[in-house]
Amino acid sequence: MDDLKFSFVGWGRHNNLSSRVGDVVVYLKTVRYCIAAVVFCCFSVGNAYAATPEALAFPCMACHGPEGNSQGDIPSLNGRSFDYLKSNLLAFKQRQRRGVIMNRIARGYSDEQIEVLARYFSALK
Ligand code: HEC
Repeated sequence: MDDLKFSFVGWGRHNNLSSRVGDVVVYLKTVRYCIAAVVFCCFSVGNAYAATPEALAFPCMACHGPEGNSQGDIPSLNGRSFDYLKSNLLAFKQRQRRGVIMNRIARGYSDEQIEVLARYFSALK
C-alpha cells in the first residue's frame, strides 16, 4: 500500500516528461487567460466607446460638419427629423438608397446604433 502511494505521488512530481507536460498545460492555460483578458478589455472599451452618442457621431462630422452643420456640398444632418435620419441611414445600409459614400458607412453600424445617431443629430439645431 505504501509502495502504491509513493509511486502515485512520485508520478507527477518526479517524472520529468509528465511534469514538463504539466508545465506546458499550465502555460497554455495562462496564455489562454491572457488572451481572454485582452479580448474582454477591448470588448468593454469598444462598448463604452460606442455607448456614448457623441463618440459614435464624431466621425460623421468630418464630412457633415461640426454638430452636423455642413460647411460644403455634403448635406447637413442637424435639424433633420429622427425619422428622416433613421430611414435614410437604414436605406443606405440596405442599399435601397444609393450614395457615393454612405452605403459603405451605414453598413458599419447596427440598427440600434443608427437610432442613436438619428436621435443625436435630430436633437441638434
Ligand atoms: C466620408 C464622408 C462622410 C462621412 C464620414 C459620413 N457621411 Fe453621411 N453623407 C456623405 C455624403 C457624400 C452623402 C450624400 C450621399 C452619398 O453620396 O453617399 C451623405 C449623406 C448622408 C445622409 C443623408 C442626408 C440627406 O439629407 O440626404 C445621412 C442621414 C448621413 N449621411 C448620415 C451620416 C452619419 C450618421 C454619419 C456617421 C456615422 C455619416 N453620414 C458619415 C458623406 C459622409
